[in-house]
Amino acid sequence: MQQIPEEYLKMSREELTDKINSAITKLGDDLLIIAHHYQKDEVVEFAQATGDSLQLAQIAAANKRAKHIVFCGVHFMAETADMLTEDDQHVYLPDEAAGCFMADMANDEQLRICWNDLAGKFGDTIMPITYINSTAAVKAFVGEHGGTTVTSSNSEKIVQWALTQKERILFLPDQHLGRNTAYALGIPLTQMALYKPLTGELVYEGALEDVKIILWDGYCSVHQQFTPDHIAFLRHKYPEIKIIVHPECPIEVVLASDEYGSTNRILNVVADSPEGTHWAIGTDNNLVGRMMHDPHHKIEYLNPMSCACLTMNRIKLPHLAWNLDNILNGNFTQKITVDEETTKLSNLALERMLELS
Ligand code: 13P
Ligand code: SF4
Repeated sequence: MQQIPEEYLKMSREELTDKINSAITKLGDDLLIIAHHYQKDEVVEFAQATGDSLQLAQIAAANKRAKHIVFCGVHFMAETADMLTEDDQHVYLPDEAAGCFMADMANDEQLRICWNDLAGKFGDTIMPITYINSTAAVKAFVGEHGGTTVTSSNSEKIVQWALTQKERILFLPDQHLGRNTAYALGIPLTQMALYKPLTGELVYEGALEDVKIILWDGYCSVHQQFTPDHIAFLRHKYPEIKIIVHPECPIEVVLASDEYGSTNRILNVVADSPEGTHWAIGTDNNLVGRMMHDPHHKIEYLNPMSCACLTMNRIKLPHLAWNLDNILNGNFTQKITVDEETTKLSNLALERMLELS
């Protein structure tokens, strides 16, 4: 992994802005810059499209024109875009160190061990489902074993479909999205087991034949910063307040909220609410901070002390300027490439999801 040259870190904001604008003009239709909703304001300013994970995957899959797709997000998102685009399209991550802590909580080797263990206990009754926040290798395993990916905006629809195909589901790596989704579909918590990849233990108190959902013990450290106490505090202070959170939050938080959903749903629910509605929002601070500029609604952080996603925050103007200069110079330093075999198997899972979405 190559470090960003010092000269970019020393440039003024004006110099960086000029550089980026000039590269955008030179590259024209060959370039597409897309950004996740958690990106910094300074980066979002240059994005031709922003979205949640599902939207960004759909944008990448639909775009056949741009030769260079600069993905301002995290590693699994750029990998997904690379797998869904044509061979002659290149996908870049402006800072290659921008990973996702949750995606790193499951690797294909752990998954293989888990799968063999579960096959011994449950036979051929399980569909593997991976949150899109996972490595390409994990997606490939899931695709190869008849499963699918999900995002926070389609998980209910897809898990519902999956349960018409198989008796039970292995959901990874986010236990919270898995639990919130299954619970919303009417599956009781007593039918959900927890698989601990570090010890290989399956935590479940009842009879094994009753298990419907096997949750991988992974989570997002950003969304674990919200608790029911934050909600109780704000409801006491502002009795009229509405709470909306991301489904990566623990179930106690989701159940104590008025609404929950993907980053895009959060934006839409707030935008469509009556003028003057007071909202507290439980998700990454970059997004909530931007929403605070909305003149029609009053917006609060659900937890003002929470940290934003550190990896999403790695991408700053110097990285974007460096990436665009590299493209102009024919240097592919920040290019993200997934090998052919992994792409083929992962796409089985991704395409199944896109069809069902
Ligand atoms: P969305 O798909 O809702 O944008 O979520 C992505 C993510 O990583 C949230 O932490
Ligand atoms: Fe990953 Fe959490 Fe950051 Fe989303 S907010 S990219 S799940 S670490």
